[in-house]
Amino acid sequence: MSTKLWGGRFSDALDPLMEEFNASIAFDRRLWQADIRGSQAYAQALARAGLLTANEAEQIVAGLEQVAGDWRAEQFEVKAGDEDIHTANERRLTELIGPVAGKLHTGRSRNDQVATDLRLWLREELTKSEQKLHTLIEVATERAESEIDLLMPGYTHLQPAQPTRWSHWLLGHAWAWQRDAQRLQDLLPRVNLLPLGNGALAGNPFPIDRDWLAQELGFAAPTPNSLDGVSDRDFVAETLFWATMTMLHISRWAEDLIIYSSREFGFVTLADAYSTGSSLMPQKKNPDSLELLRGKAGRVFGDMSGLLMTLKGLPSTYNKDLQEDKEPLFDAIDTLAGALPIAAGALATLTVKRDTMAQALVPEMLATDLAEYLVRKGVPFRETHDLAGEAVALAESEGIALSDLTLTALRSLHPAFDEDVLAIWSYERSVEQRDVRGGSSRRAVKEQIDELRRWLSQSTSG
Ligand code: ARG
Repeated sequence: MSTKLWGGRFSDALDPLMEEFNASIAFDRRLWQADIRGSQAYAQALARAGLLTANEAEQIVAGLEQVAGDWRAEQFEVKAGDEDIHTANERRLTELIGPVAGKLHTGRSRNDQVATDLRLWLREELTKSEQKLHTLIEVATERAESEIDLLMPGYTHLQPAQPTRWSHWLLGHAWAWQRDAQRLQDLLPRVNLLPLGNGALAGNPFPIDRDWLAQELGFAAPTPNSLDGVSDRDFVAETLFWATMTMLHISRWAEDLIIYSSREFGFVTLADAYSTGSSLMPQKKNPDSLELLRGKAGRVFGDMSGLLMTLKGLPSTYNKDLQEDKEPLFDAIDTLAGALPIAAGALATLTVKRDTMAQALVPEMLATDLAEYLVRKGVPFRETHDLAGEAVALAESEGIALSDLTLTALRSLHPAFDEDVLAIWSYERSVEQRDVRGGSSRRAVKEQIDELRRWLSQSTSG
């Protein structure tokens, strides 16, 4: 008998380079646990279908438990010819329990097996990722609550625009992460389907109870079509999109902080624990954690685009190209697993330089408030916008701050200006005025914090 699972029709051995090229054991070994779990359930399904005696099924299940023991003790020895995790586990099982192991693969193909393993594995990993994402959102929410007093400039086009709250900025990013967590929840049902029992492509010829198998392995249902079931990798693509989007949000957040931590802005200082120095310039403290987070977003996008390219031209059902689904998926999941706690740690430990942040607020950022003042006096907004612009120009030509224009000067622009205009030159008041839902007032920001907290407590799974 051939040493290969598929060796029967072959008379010549694989070219050694082809052997190496073909093998996926180097990276799919991390599916060992999922593979054993799937096989144990499948052995029971075979017994229920009358293809294994109860005793044979017991031998297989116990043998697989021993194989699992090898892996757990890091004593599993990968041997030449172990093409992938499925062949390796079956080879070892055969060594342990003899020829009865040869009954396990009845009606099964590595095509439905690998798709099942990957879904089992991913399900666990996504739960871990979700928890890490929740921690990041919690850190942002906590800071938003305790630092709600801090005002900062808000930017559009990276130009000072209107005053806002530091908490509002924090929550702006937290909401993006909340959507990422929702997207994760949304894709889980499409991960949680069972391909096992599809055979190589055409379905299982034996009366395997796929509903029982699905239940046994914690899947919501069996996949509905065997041709699709062995080759559907939408769940991998969706995961990679989720990972890309999450990293994109982390990257944009990191970019803000890289700018805010620059000497020119000086709004925040990263903790030493998340910064590194320069080997040449002794004075440097670089935001490497944030830069790496920004950099790794590109890498995860690459994982996603690579997989989509792999999938786009495939004819129906299984093709070996699909073996290329694993490395990008593993890489993205690993990258996220590394990135999320770094983002949470960097955010939890940075120091806000409240004075520098406050000093960056300039009266010109209240030009919109000046226009809004006139709106409240009944002047149409289009006119008030022009008038406030003229006020800015006037102050500029006189070389004074917008807030230093005299009432007489303002009145020369429009008679509706009154004594009470002086009250608008307060950043706090400006921020408090934006009291609508989603705005920057203390009340509106607290409302966001409550909403995020409620969401966090309801959506914490497992
Ligand atoms: N290592 C393979 C993969 O990851 C397992 C499936 C192999 N199937 C096959 N027909 N050669 O996709």
